[in-house]
Amino acid sequence: MIGSGYVGLVSGACFADFGHVVTCVDNDEARIGDLEAGRMPIYEPGLQELVASNRAEGRLAFTKDLAAAVKNAEVVFIAVGTPTLEGSREADLHYVYAAAEEIAAAITSFTVVVNKSTVPVGTGDEVEKIIRARRPDAEFAVVSNPEFLREGAAIYDFKHPDRIIVGTDDPQAHVVMHEAYRPLYLNAAPFLFTARRTAELIKYAANAFLATKVAFINEIADICEKAGADVQDVARGMGLDNRIGRKFLNAGPGFGGSCFPKDTLALVHTARTLGAPTGIVEAVETGNRERKRRMAGKVLEACGGSVAGKTIAMLGLSFKQNTDDVRDAAAIDIARGLLAEGADLRVYDPQSMEKARPLIPGATFCPNAYDCAQGASALAIVTEWDAFRALDLERLKEALAEPVIVDLRNIYSPAEMRRRGFRYTSVGRP
Ligand code: NAD
Ligand code: UGA
Repeated sequence: MIGSGYVGLVSGACFADFGHVVTCVDNDEARIGDLEAGRMPIYEPGLQELVASNRAEGRLAFTKDLAAAVKNAEVVFIAVGTPTLEGSREADLHYVYAAAEEIAAAITSFTVVVNKSTVPVGTGDEVEKIIRARRPDAEFAVVSNPEFLREGAAIYDFKHPDRIIVGTDDPQAHVVMHEAYRPLYLNAAPFLFTARRTAELIKYAANAFLATKVAFINEIADICEKAGADVQDVARGMGLDNRIGRKFLNAGPGFGGSCFPKDTLALVHTARTLGAPTGIVEAVETGNRERKRRMAGKVLEACGGSVAGKTIAMLGLSFKQNTDDVRDAAAIDIARGLLAEGADLRVYDPQSMEKARPLIPGATFCPNAYDCAQGASALAIVTEWDAFRALDLERLKEALAEPVIVDLRNIYSPAEMRRRGFRYTSVGRP
């Protein structure tokens, strides 16, 4: 497994748990050192235990020596990052291509090289060219096997996938991929074998569609606010139609994370390059980016139009609950917006403070939710952590200078909050 981040580490540990012998590689020495010492470089529920048990069984190892790991492997997964190329929409593929170069040099016998990173259509062709150019003698097949796990539920998602997509026309690779995922096949997880370019596009189409659902309900939430309607009931009413479905219709501050924002951008880039522009995906990406920037304005509004010189508390920094990932998180945009407006900002998150600290210099990082609320003129809830769903509201009210709550995840009931004496606003609800 080349790359030991959210996808590589989780996939590696799960494949080991299926009974395979897995080596997770990373070129970040500190990361490998941490993993060897039993420390997880990311927060993902259940991961520490899964890694520990599979290491103890001798099925999971870590190394920075890619060549040694690849030498005897039947299948090599590439799970390195594909962030947005600085100053563009395009996916930066240099980590993928660098890994392909290194893999090529290390292949000794027939090897299935699998792209698990999210990569633009045609990347598999490039990886194949790189390996072929470097090693004309090598026997190998390049396969696309996109990953659909969600952070925060990654182990469950990997072990209970809605589907496994395998893009290859190589019969030998077909057999190896089938064997790699055999335990899931026995659980009747649906496999879709398809062409490699199709598999690559399935991943972007799926992410863009889910992002569109979120952007759509956020747009409806804005209409609800003007119309005095309740977006949660609208989502329920829409979702009861099986053709629509209730999932991914939770209105909020805008989608974040390391995937939807960058993958919608990259799809727009691919489409433009191919001369098939995607108006819908482009609108989703742009609208969402603007929404995240606009959200600080909701706090300003709740504070009478200005936060200058006021203490503001913010609960939640990660892009959603159960992860420490702050990449493209709405919370970061909101925090920066409030700091720029002159707020004295206090923040708290159960897991992502370390990762957020360098992104929002000037904010005060607090040890818990109640300390965070201390003396604040308003409290914004930005991430829907379970720990924020049942706060001691009396204690919170005592800590706050003004009983003002801006709930950007709709986790409290407006009627209940009013009854308890809060000035409460949320998203798309009267
Ligand atoms: P990540 O940044 O957490 O991890 C990538 C790791 O790869 C890093 O630890 C990095 O040091 C390592 N790396 C880079 N180049 C390397 C090389 N040549 N050799 C060895 N190690 C190398 O990234 P991630 O979130 O795991 O995402 C990986 C890919 O999977 C991306 O394409 C992403 O879009 C896709 N994806 C991510 C998720 C998710 O939930 N995070 C879900 C599905 C798909
Ligand atoms: C997403 C997809 O759900 C995964 O299937 C995919 O594998 C992954 O991207 C990826 O390609 O890397 P993830 O980014 O971990 O997973 O998180 P999601 O649960 O999809 O949430 C994404 C963002 O949308 C979050 O900011 C979340 O708060 C927001 N969201 C989601 C909403 O605002 N409302 C919703 O109803 C659902």
